[in-house]
Amino acid sequence: MTDSNANIHTEFHRLLDTPAKEALLRQRGVVVWMYGMSGSGKSTLAVALERHFHEAGRLVQVLDGDNIRHGINRDLGFSLEDREENIRRIAEIAKLFRSLGVLTITSFITPTNDLRAIAKEILGDDLLQIYVKASYEACEKRDVKGLYAKARRGEVKQFTGKDSLFEEPENPDLTLDTETLSVEEAVQLLIDLVTPRITLS
Ligand code: ADX
Repeated sequence: MTDSNANIHTEFHRLLDTPAKEALLRQRGVVVWMYGMSGSGKSTLAVALERHFHEAGRLVQVLDGDNIRHGINRDLGFSLEDREENIRRIAEIAKLFRSLGVLTITSFITPTNDLRAIAKEILGDDLLQIYVKASYEACEKRDVKGLYAKARRGEVKQFTGKDSLFEEPENPDLTLDTETLSVEEAVQLLIDLVTPRITLS
């Protein structure tokens, strides 16, 4: 703890707690964390899930790699150290949204089990981990952003799955193989998992 931290006195005990806010929204706050390689389908599923729950009268927020990296995390690159800080900040932001009772959907590569553990450490039981699975070859074929072609030409350093590690996750709450499932099927599996978690008893 630095000297300046020693002078910070948190006010959490005087603030209204999460259940009060959840009661207002008539839903429980949960974080649905999608991880998988670039082009695996994370953002497509995140957006479709947001739309479904929004139309069902739920308050939802999507946090997405490309947007966050243009704003609060624009100082971060793709070294393992920077990816760690990226994930730590996103998990803290997601925790704030979650504490407001918001259904928070995050879409970040989160390429290693250590990074996933950082998110778990910060979010605890309020985290649902979704592995959006597709092979490097399938993502390269889709190449929505043209990044795989660039990586092949050596124009992207530390590219996930090529010269930067992507580890198979150990125990996600759900794996969605986007090479075999349609978007509709994947979204339905997500809805079935998430709905009971956000329903207030
Ligand atoms: S993470 O590894 O730290 O979780 P994050 O999800 O925030 O990554 O950012 C990934 C997005 O950044 C990709 O969807 C892609 O558009 C872009 N990107 C730029 N450079 C790289 C790179 N070297 N590796 C992976 N993604 C990259």
